[in-house]
Amino acid sequence: MSKYTAPRGTKDITPDDMPFWHYIESTSRSLFSLYNYQEIRTPVFEHTELFERGIGDSTDIVEKEMYTFSDKGDRRLTLRPEGTAPIVRAYVQHGMHSKSKVSKLYYCGPMFRYERPQAGRYRQFHQIGVESLGSALPICDAEVIAMGVHLFDELGLSGLSVAINSVGCPVCRPVIEERLKQFIGLNLEHLCGDCNRRFDSRPLRILDCKNSTCKTYMTGLPDIRDSLCHECKDHFNYVVGYLDNLGIPFQINPQLVRGLDYYTRTTFEIGSDQLGAQNALCGGGRYDGLVSQLGGPATPAVGFAFGIERAVMILQEMSDYHQRVNPLVYVAPVGFDQVAKSFLLVDRIRRAGYRVELETSKNELKTHLKQADKLNARLVLIYGEDEANVDKVLVRRMADRTQELIPFDHALEYIVSELEDDTF
Ligand code: HAM
Repeated sequence: MSKYTAPRGTKDITPDDMPFWHYIESTSRSLFSLYNYQEIRTPVFEHTELFERGIGDSTDIVEKEMYTFSDKGDRRLTLRPEGTAPIVRAYVQHGMHSKSKVSKLYYCGPMFRYERPQAGRYRQFHQIGVESLGSALPICDAEVIAMGVHLFDELGLSGLSVAINSVGCPVCRPVIEERLKQFIGLNLEHLCGDCNRRFDSRPLRILDCKNSTCKTYMTGLPDIRDSLCHECKDHFNYVVGYLDNLGIPFQINPQLVRGLDYYTRTTFEIGSDQLGAQNALCGGGRYDGLVSQLGGPATPAVGFAFGIERAVMILQEMSDYHQRVNPLVYVAPVGFDQVAKSFLLVDRIRRAGYRVELETSKNELKTHLKQADKLNARLVLIYGEDEANVDKVLVRRMADRTQELIPFDHALEYIVSELEDDTF
Protein backbone atom coordinates (compact mmCIF):
# COMPACT_ATOMS: atom_id res chain seq x y z
CA MET A 1 0.00 0.00 0.00
CA SER A 2 1.49 3.34 -0.98
CA LYS A 3 1.94 6.05 1.63
CA TYR A 4 -0.33 8.42 -0.25
CA THR A 5 -3.88 7.63 -1.25
CA ALA A 6 -6.50 9.68 -3.12
CA PRO A 7 -8.41 11.94 -0.66
CA ARG A 8 -11.54 10.49 0.96
CA GLY A 9 -14.50 10.62 -1.40
CA THR A 10 -12.36 10.85 -4.57
CA LYS A 11 -11.07 8.11 -6.83
CA ASP A 12 -8.79 7.50 -9.76
CA ILE A 13 -10.39 6.52 -13.03
CA THR A 14 -8.06 3.72 -14.04
CA PRO A 15 -7.47 2.38 -17.58
CA ASP A 16 -9.75 -0.58 -16.70
CA ASP A 17 -12.67 1.80 -16.11
CA MET A 18 -11.86 4.24 -18.88
CA PRO A 19 -13.71 2.42 -21.73
CA PHE A 20 -16.95 2.90 -19.76
CA TRP A 21 -16.29 6.62 -19.40
CA HIS A 22 -15.41 7.05 -23.07
CA TYR A 23 -18.49 5.11 -24.08
CA ILE A 24 -20.80 7.25 -21.90
CA GLU A 25 -19.20 10.52 -22.96
CA SER A 26 -19.14 9.78 -26.69
CA THR A 27 -22.68 8.34 -26.74
CA SER A 28 -23.94 11.44 -24.88
CA ARG A 29 -22.21 13.85 -27.26
CA SER A 30 -23.61 12.11 -30.36
CA LEU A 31 -27.10 11.95 -28.91
CA PHE A 32 -27.13 15.59 -27.78
CA SER A 33 -26.11 16.66 -31.25
CA LEU A 34 -29.22 14.87 -32.63
CA TYR A 35 -31.26 17.27 -30.47
CA ASN A 36 -29.12 20.19 -31.66
CA TYR A 37 -27.43 20.88 -28.30
CA GLN A 38 -24.01 22.53 -28.18
CA GLU A 39 -21.26 22.00 -25.63
CA ILE A 40 -20.26 24.64 -23.10
CA ARG A 41 -17.39 24.47 -20.58
CA THR A 42 -17.27 26.71 -17.52
CA PRO A 43 -14.60 27.05 -14.77
CA VAL A 44 -14.35 24.45 -12.03
CA PHE A 45 -14.65 27.22 -9.41
CA GLU A 46 -16.95 30.23 -9.25
CA HIS A 47 -17.72 33.06 -6.86
CA THR A 48 -19.39 31.51 -3.79
CA GLU A 49 -22.27 33.94 -4.02
CA LEU A 50 -23.38 32.41 -7.32
CA PHE A 51 -24.25 29.15 -5.59
CA GLU A 52 -25.64 30.77 -2.44
CA ARG A 53 -28.06 32.76 -4.55
CA GLY A 54 -28.61 30.22 -7.31
CA ILE A 55 -29.02 26.93 -5.43
CA GLY A 56 -30.54 28.46 -2.28
CA ASP A 57 -28.93 29.13 1.08
CA SER A 58 -31.15 26.71 2.98
CA THR A 59 -30.28 23.69 0.84
CA ASP A 60 -27.99 20.90 2.09
CA ILE A 61 -25.57 21.73 -0.72
CA VAL A 62 -25.08 25.35 0.33
CA GLU A 63 -25.39 24.79 4.09
CA LYS A 64 -23.13 21.77 4.41
CA GLU A 65 -21.51 20.53 1.26
CA MET A 66 -19.60 23.26 -0.53
CA TYR A 67 -15.82 23.36 -0.86
CA THR A 68 -15.33 27.07 -0.23
CA PHE A 69 -12.02 28.88 0.14
CA SER A 70 -10.47 32.33 -0.10
CA ASP A 71 -7.80 32.85 -2.71
CA LYS A 72 -4.70 34.98 -2.24
CA GLY A 73 -6.71 38.02 -3.37
CA ASP A 74 -9.27 37.34 -0.61
CA ARG A 75 -12.03 36.35 -3.04
CA ARG A 76 -14.58 33.81 -1.73
CA LEU A 77 -14.61 30.99 -4.23
CA THR A 78 -16.33 27.60 -4.35
CA LEU A 79 -15.58 24.42 -6.30
CA ARG A 80 -18.77 23.99 -8.30
CA PRO A 81 -21.20 21.56 -6.63
CA GLU A 82 -23.40 21.43 -9.76
CA GLY A 83 -23.54 22.78 -13.30
CA THR A 84 -26.80 24.70 -13.68
CA ALA A 85 -25.93 27.93 -11.82
CA PRO A 86 -22.58 28.26 -13.68
CA ILE A 87 -24.28 27.69 -17.05
CA VAL A 88 -26.87 30.35 -16.25
CA ARG A 89 -24.07 32.70 -15.13
CA ALA A 90 -22.30 32.14 -18.48
CA TYR A 91 -25.58 32.51 -20.40
CA VAL A 92 -26.17 35.94 -18.85
CA GLN A 93 -22.51 37.03 -19.02
CA HIS A 94 -22.27 36.29 -22.76
CA GLY A 95 -25.68 37.73 -23.59
CA MET A 96 -26.76 34.45 -25.18
CA HIS A 97 -30.43 35.43 -24.89
CA SER A 98 -29.88 38.11 -27.54
CA LYS A 99 -28.27 35.65 -29.96
CA SER A 100 -31.08 33.11 -30.24
CA LYS A 101 -34.54 32.58 -28.79
CA VAL A 102 -33.60 29.21 -27.32
CA SER A 103 -30.08 28.17 -26.24
CA LYS A 104 -29.57 24.43 -25.93
CA LEU A 105 -26.38 23.66 -24.04
CA TYR A 106 -24.68 20.57 -22.63
CA TYR A 107 -21.70 20.11 -20.34
CA CYS A 108 -19.56 17.42 -18.81
CA GLY A 109 -17.12 17.66 -15.94
CA PRO A 110 -16.22 17.26 -12.28
CA MET A 111 -18.44 18.57 -9.47
CA PHE A 112 -17.62 18.74 -5.75
CA ARG A 113 -19.81 18.14 -2.70
CA TYR A 114 -18.67 17.45 0.85
CA GLU A 115 -21.02 14.51 1.40
CA ARG A 116 -20.55 11.33 3.41
CA PRO A 117 -18.91 9.00 0.88
CA GLN A 118 -20.54 5.65 0.11
CA ALA A 119 -21.15 3.46 -2.95
CA GLY A 120 -22.15 5.82 -5.78
CA ARG A 121 -21.60 8.95 -3.67
CA TYR A 122 -18.33 10.83 -3.93
CA ARG A 123 -16.91 14.19 -2.95
CA GLN A 124 -15.53 14.68 -6.44
CA PHE A 125 -17.92 13.21 -8.98
CA HIS A 126 -18.73 13.88 -12.63
CA GLN A 127 -21.91 15.04 -14.26
CA ILE A 128 -23.14 15.23 -17.81
CA GLY A 129 -25.95 17.76 -18.03
CA VAL A 130 -28.14 19.67 -20.46
CA GLU A 131 -29.85 23.05 -20.11
CA SER A 132 -32.43 24.40 -22.54
CA LEU A 133 -32.92 28.14 -21.95
CA GLY A 134 -35.59 30.33 -23.55
CA SER A 135 -38.80 28.32 -23.81
CA ALA A 136 -41.62 28.08 -21.27
CA LEU A 137 -43.56 25.53 -23.32
CA PRO A 138 -44.33 22.15 -21.75
CA ILE A 139 -43.12 20.40 -24.93
CA CYS A 140 -39.67 21.59 -23.92
CA ASP A 141 -39.87 19.81 -20.52
CA ALA A 142 -41.09 16.67 -22.30
CA GLU A 143 -38.31 16.88 -24.89
CA VAL A 144 -35.65 17.18 -22.17
CA ILE A 145 -37.06 14.18 -20.27
CA ALA A 146 -37.41 12.20 -23.51
CA MET A 147 -33.81 13.02 -24.40
CA GLY A 148 -32.63 11.62 -21.03
CA VAL A 149 -34.64 8.44 -21.56
CA HIS A 150 -33.36 8.17 -25.15
CA LEU A 151 -29.76 8.56 -23.93
CA PHE A 152 -30.06 5.84 -21.29
CA ASP A 153 -31.75 3.54 -23.83
CA GLU A 154 -28.91 4.21 -26.25
CA LEU A 155 -26.38 3.40 -23.52
CA GLY A 156 -28.27 0.15 -22.93
CA LEU A 157 -28.96 0.86 -19.24
CA SER A 158 -31.78 -1.34 -17.99
CA GLY A 159 -34.04 -1.25 -14.93
CA LEU A 160 -34.64 2.52 -15.03
CA SER A 161 -37.76 4.38 -13.92
CA VAL A 162 -38.86 7.97 -14.41
CA ALA A 163 -40.55 9.91 -11.58
CA ILE A 164 -42.14 13.29 -12.25
CA ASN A 165 -43.86 16.02 -10.24
CA SER A 166 -44.68 19.72 -10.29
CA VAL A 167 -43.56 22.08 -7.51
CA GLY A 168 -45.63 25.01 -8.77
CA CYS A 169 -44.69 28.61 -9.52
CA PRO A 170 -44.46 31.85 -7.47
CA VAL A 171 -48.27 32.18 -7.75
CA CYS A 172 -49.22 28.82 -6.22
CA ARG A 173 -46.08 28.07 -4.18
CA PRO A 174 -47.36 30.04 -1.14
CA VAL A 175 -50.57 27.97 -1.21
CA ILE A 176 -48.60 24.72 -1.48
CA GLU A 177 -46.33 25.79 1.37
CA GLU A 178 -49.21 26.82 3.61
CA ARG A 179 -50.96 23.47 3.18
CA LEU A 180 -47.72 21.60 3.83
CA LYS A 181 -47.08 23.64 6.96
CA GLN A 182 -50.55 22.85 8.29
CA PHE A 183 -49.81 19.13 7.90
CA ILE A 184 -46.16 19.13 9.01
CA GLY A 185 -46.85 21.52 11.92
CA LEU A 186 -48.81 18.75 13.67
CA ASN A 187 -45.59 16.78 14.21
CA LEU A 188 -42.92 19.45 14.06
CA GLU A 189 -41.47 18.62 17.47
CA HIS A 190 -40.62 15.08 16.24
CA LEU A 191 -38.70 16.29 13.18
CA CYS A 192 -34.94 16.93 12.98
CA GLY A 193 -33.24 20.28 13.60
CA ASP A 194 -32.84 20.98 9.85
CA CYS A 195 -36.58 20.48 9.25
CA ASN A 196 -37.45 22.72 12.19
CA ARG A 197 -35.16 25.46 10.90
CA ARG A 198 -36.62 25.18 7.39
CA PHE A 199 -40.26 25.01 8.50
CA ASP A 200 -40.92 28.74 8.21
CA SER A 201 -38.69 29.76 5.31
CA ARG A 202 -38.60 26.66 3.06
CA PRO A 203 -41.19 24.08 4.11
CA LEU A 204 -40.88 22.28 0.74
CA ARG A 205 -37.29 21.34 1.69
CA ILE A 206 -38.72 19.15 4.47
CA LEU A 207 -40.08 16.72 1.85
CA ASP A 208 -36.49 16.14 0.74
CA CYS A 209 -35.13 15.39 4.24
CA LYS A 210 -33.13 12.14 4.28
CA ASN A 211 -33.64 11.57 8.04
CA SER A 212 -35.54 8.28 8.45
CA THR A 213 -37.59 9.52 11.45
CA CYS A 214 -38.70 12.61 9.54
CA LYS A 215 -39.73 10.42 6.60
CA THR A 216 -42.12 8.44 8.79
CA TYR A 217 -44.07 11.63 9.52
CA MET A 218 -44.57 12.37 5.82
CA THR A 219 -47.15 9.66 5.14
CA GLY A 220 -50.53 11.12 4.30
CA LEU A 221 -49.05 14.41 3.08
CA PRO A 222 -51.43 16.55 1.03
CA ASP A 223 -50.75 16.08 -2.71
CA ILE A 224 -48.93 19.17 -4.03
CA ARG A 225 -50.85 18.89 -7.30
CA ASP A 226 -54.13 19.74 -5.53
CA SER A 227 -52.72 23.19 -4.69
CA LEU A 228 -51.31 24.05 -8.13
CA CYS A 229 -52.70 27.09 -9.96
CA HIS A 230 -54.53 26.56 -13.27
CA GLU A 231 -51.48 27.42 -15.39
CA CYS A 232 -49.23 24.99 -13.50
CA LYS A 233 -51.88 22.24 -13.66
CA ASP A 234 -52.22 22.75 -17.42
CA HIS A 235 -48.46 22.78 -17.88
CA PHE A 236 -48.08 19.53 -15.93
CA ASN A 237 -50.92 17.83 -17.82
CA TYR A 238 -49.33 18.76 -21.14
CA VAL A 239 -45.92 17.41 -20.06
CA VAL A 240 -47.35 14.05 -18.96
CA GLY A 241 -49.54 13.96 -22.10
CA TYR A 242 -46.50 14.40 -24.37
CA LEU A 243 -44.62 11.68 -22.51
CA ASP A 244 -47.62 9.35 -22.78
CA ASN A 245 -47.77 10.10 -26.46
CA LEU A 246 -44.16 8.94 -26.90
CA GLY A 247 -44.90 5.81 -24.87
CA ILE A 248 -42.39 6.75 -22.14
CA PRO A 249 -43.35 5.02 -18.89
CA PHE A 250 -43.22 7.27 -15.80
CA GLN A 251 -44.70 7.59 -12.34
CA ILE A 252 -46.05 10.71 -10.72
CA ASN A 253 -44.41 11.20 -7.33
CA PRO A 254 -46.10 14.08 -5.45
CA GLN A 255 -43.21 14.24 -2.96
CA LEU A 256 -40.46 14.77 -5.54
CA VAL A 257 -39.18 18.28 -4.70
CA ARG A 258 -35.41 17.80 -5.30
CA GLY A 259 -32.57 19.27 -3.28
CA LEU A 260 -32.09 22.59 -5.07
CA ASP A 261 -34.24 25.69 -4.56
CA TYR A 262 -34.40 26.91 -8.16
CA TYR A 263 -37.06 24.53 -9.46
CA THR A 264 -40.46 25.75 -10.65
CA ARG A 265 -43.18 23.52 -12.12
CA THR A 266 -41.72 20.26 -13.48
CA THR A 267 -39.25 18.22 -11.43
CA PHE A 268 -38.14 14.73 -12.42
CA GLU A 269 -35.70 11.98 -11.56
CA ILE A 270 -34.58 8.86 -13.37
CA GLY A 271 -33.62 6.11 -10.95
CA SER A 272 -32.13 2.65 -11.31
CA ASP A 273 -32.95 -0.47 -9.32
CA GLN A 274 -29.27 -1.44 -9.64
CA LEU A 275 -27.89 1.50 -7.67
CA GLY A 276 -28.94 0.59 -4.13
CA ALA A 277 -29.39 3.43 -1.62
CA GLN A 278 -28.10 6.12 -3.99
CA ASN A 279 -30.60 5.12 -6.64
CA ALA A 280 -30.94 8.45 -8.48
CA LEU A 281 -29.07 8.35 -11.76
CA CYS A 282 -30.40 11.59 -13.18
CA GLY A 283 -32.28 14.60 -11.85
CA GLY A 284 -33.66 17.74 -13.34
CA GLY A 285 -36.54 20.08 -13.87
CA ARG A 286 -37.72 23.51 -14.90
CA TYR A 287 -36.23 26.64 -13.34
CA ASP A 288 -38.03 29.66 -14.75
CA GLY A 289 -36.78 32.15 -12.13
CA LEU A 290 -33.05 31.43 -12.05
CA VAL A 291 -31.85 33.52 -15.00
CA SER A 292 -33.48 36.71 -13.68
CA GLN A 293 -32.39 35.89 -10.14
CA LEU A 294 -28.80 35.82 -11.39
CA GLY A 295 -29.12 39.18 -13.13
CA GLY A 296 -30.37 38.21 -16.60
CA PRO A 297 -33.64 38.92 -18.37
CA ALA A 298 -36.63 36.78 -17.35
CA THR A 299 -35.91 33.52 -19.20
CA PRO A 300 -37.64 30.18 -18.64
CA ALA A 301 -35.40 27.11 -18.67
CA VAL A 302 -35.31 23.37 -18.08
CA GLY A 303 -32.55 20.78 -17.84
CA PHE A 304 -31.11 17.70 -16.19
CA ALA A 305 -27.81 16.19 -15.08
CA PHE A 306 -26.72 12.63 -14.42
CA GLY A 307 -23.79 11.20 -12.52
CA ILE A 308 -21.24 9.42 -14.70
CA GLU A 309 -19.95 7.30 -11.78
CA ARG A 310 -23.49 5.97 -11.25
CA ALA A 311 -23.96 5.21 -14.97
CA VAL A 312 -20.60 3.36 -14.92
CA MET A 313 -21.77 1.32 -11.89
CA ILE A 314 -24.84 0.17 -13.82
CA LEU A 315 -22.84 -0.69 -16.94
CA GLN A 316 -20.34 -2.68 -14.87
CA GLU A 317 -23.19 -4.79 -13.52
CA MET A 318 -24.13 -5.70 -17.08
CA SER A 319 -21.80 -8.54 -17.99
CA ASP A 320 -22.36 -8.31 -21.74
CA TYR A 321 -21.12 -4.73 -21.88
CA HIS A 322 -17.70 -5.51 -23.43
CA GLN A 323 -19.15 -7.83 -26.05
CA ARG A 324 -21.89 -5.40 -26.96
CA VAL A 325 -20.29 -1.98 -27.13
CA ASN A 326 -16.63 -2.54 -27.51
CA PRO A 327 -16.08 -5.73 -29.46
CA LEU A 328 -12.48 -6.84 -29.61
CA VAL A 329 -10.98 -8.85 -32.46
CA TYR A 330 -8.05 -11.01 -31.42
CA VAL A 331 -5.66 -11.94 -34.22
CA ALA A 332 -3.63 -15.07 -33.67
CA PRO A 333 -0.78 -15.76 -36.11
CA VAL A 334 0.42 -19.30 -35.47
CA GLY A 335 4.14 -19.24 -36.33
CA PHE A 336 6.53 -16.41 -37.12
CA ASP A 337 6.06 -16.76 -40.90
CA GLN A 338 2.40 -15.79 -40.58
CA VAL A 339 3.01 -12.53 -38.71
CA ALA A 340 3.47 -10.21 -41.72
CA LYS A 341 0.21 -11.23 -43.44
CA SER A 342 -1.69 -11.16 -40.11
CA PHE A 343 -0.37 -7.64 -39.56
CA LEU A 344 -1.85 -6.63 -42.94
CA LEU A 345 -5.25 -7.97 -41.93
CA VAL A 346 -5.04 -6.21 -38.55
CA ASP A 347 -4.29 -2.95 -40.31
CA ARG A 348 -7.36 -3.34 -42.54
CA ILE A 349 -9.67 -4.04 -39.59
CA ARG A 350 -8.35 -1.13 -37.53
CA ARG A 351 -8.74 1.23 -40.50
CA ALA A 352 -12.36 0.08 -40.70
CA GLY A 353 -12.72 1.35 -37.10
CA TYR A 354 -12.54 -1.78 -34.95
CA ARG A 355 -10.49 -2.62 -31.91
CA VAL A 356 -7.89 -5.31 -32.55
CA GLU A 357 -5.31 -7.11 -30.42
CA LEU A 358 -2.44 -8.62 -32.44
CA GLU A 359 -0.68 -11.20 -30.31
CA THR A 360 2.71 -12.23 -31.72
CA SER A 361 4.38 -13.68 -28.63
CA LYS A 362 2.39 -16.94 -28.58
CA ASN A 363 2.86 -19.80 -30.98
CA GLU A 364 0.32 -22.32 -29.79
CA LEU A 365 -3.34 -22.12 -30.68
CA LYS A 366 -4.38 -23.22 -27.19
CA THR A 367 -2.54 -20.35 -25.45
CA HIS A 368 -3.88 -17.89 -28.03
CA LEU A 369 -7.47 -18.95 -27.29
CA LYS A 370 -6.92 -18.74 -23.53
CA GLN A 371 -5.60 -15.20 -23.92
CA ALA A 372 -8.50 -14.20 -26.24
CA ASP A 373 -10.95 -15.48 -23.62
CA LYS A 374 -9.24 -13.42 -20.93
CA LEU A 375 -9.50 -10.30 -23.07
CA ASN A 376 -13.19 -10.95 -23.74
CA ALA A 377 -12.64 -11.00 -27.51
CA ARG A 378 -15.70 -11.48 -29.66
CA LEU A 379 -13.83 -12.92 -32.65
CA VAL A 380 -10.50 -14.72 -32.95
CA LEU A 381 -8.80 -14.78 -36.36
CA ILE A 382 -6.50 -17.76 -36.64
CA TYR A 383 -3.84 -17.63 -39.31
CA GLY A 384 -1.42 -20.54 -39.31
CA GLU A 385 0.45 -22.52 -41.96
CA ASP A 386 -2.67 -24.51 -42.97
CA GLU A 387 -4.67 -21.32 -43.53
CA ALA A 388 -1.79 -19.62 -45.36
CA ASN A 389 -1.54 -22.58 -47.75
CA VAL A 390 -5.14 -22.09 -48.91
CA ASP A 391 -5.03 -18.26 -48.58
CA LYS A 392 -7.82 -18.26 -45.97
CA VAL A 393 -8.38 -17.14 -42.37
CA LEU A 394 -10.15 -19.18 -39.72
CA VAL A 395 -12.71 -16.91 -37.99
CA ARG A 396 -13.82 -18.19 -34.57
CA ARG A 397 -16.82 -16.73 -32.69
CA MET A 398 -15.97 -16.87 -29.01
CA ALA A 399 -19.58 -16.84 -27.78
CA ASP A 400 -20.59 -20.18 -29.34
CA ARG A 401 -17.13 -21.51 -30.34
CA THR A 402 -18.23 -21.93 -33.96
CA GLN A 403 -15.73 -21.18 -36.71
CA GLU A 404 -15.53 -20.70 -40.45
CA LEU A 405 -12.76 -20.55 -43.09
CA ILE A 406 -12.96 -17.30 -45.07
CA PRO A 407 -10.85 -16.31 -48.11
CA PHE A 408 -8.19 -13.85 -46.95
CA ASP A 409 -9.35 -11.06 -49.27
CA HIS A 410 -12.98 -11.34 -48.09
CA ALA A 411 -12.07 -11.53 -44.42
CA LEU A 412 -12.56 -7.83 -43.67
CA GLU A 413 -16.07 -7.75 -45.14
CA TYR A 414 -17.03 -10.89 -43.23
CA ILE A 415 -15.60 -9.62 -39.92
CA VAL A 416 -17.35 -6.25 -40.21
CA SER A 417 -20.72 -7.92 -40.77
CA GLU A 418 -20.10 -10.18 -37.75
CA LEU A 419 -19.20 -7.20 -35.53
CA GLU A 420 -22.17 -5.18 -36.69
CA ASP A 421 -24.56 -8.01 -35.86
CA ASP A 422 -26.67 -6.61 -33.01
CA THR A 423 -28.38 -9.89 -32.23
CA PHE A 424 -25.06 -11.21 -30.97
P1 HAM B 1 -28.65 16.68 -8.67
O1 HAM B 1 -29.81 15.79 -8.48
O2 HAM B 1 -28.07 17.32 -7.46
O3 HAM B 1 -29.05 17.75 -9.75
O4 HAM B 1 -27.49 15.84 -9.36
C1 HAM B 1 -27.72 15.13 -10.57
C2 HAM B 1 -27.06 13.77 -10.51
O5 HAM B 1 -25.67 13.89 -10.16
C3 HAM B 1 -27.61 12.80 -9.46
O6 HAM B 1 -28.80 12.18 -9.93
C4 HAM B 1 -26.46 11.83 -9.30
O7 HAM B 1 -26.45 10.85 -10.33
C5 HAM B 1 -25.25 12.70 -9.47
N1 HAM B 1 -24.68 13.06 -8.16
C6 HAM B 1 -25.07 14.05 -7.32
N2 HAM B 1 -24.31 14.06 -6.22
C7 HAM B 1 -23.42 13.05 -6.35
C8 HAM B 1 -22.35 12.53 -5.55
N3 HAM B 1 -22.01 13.08 -4.38
N4 HAM B 1 -21.63 11.47 -6.02
C9 HAM B 1 -21.93 10.92 -7.22
N5 HAM B 1 -22.92 11.37 -8.02
C10 HAM B 1 -23.66 12.40 -7.60
C11 HAM B 1 -28.24 18.76 -10.18
O8 HAM B 1 -27.06 18.82 -9.96
C12 HAM B 1 -28.94 19.75 -11.08
N6 HAM B 1 -27.96 20.78 -11.49
C13 HAM B 1 -29.55 19.05 -12.29
C14 HAM B 1 -30.24 20.00 -13.22
C15 HAM B 1 -29.77 20.46 -14.40
N7 HAM B 1 -31.42 20.55 -13.01
C16 HAM B 1 -31.70 21.34 -14.04
N8 HAM B 1 -30.69 21.31 -14.89
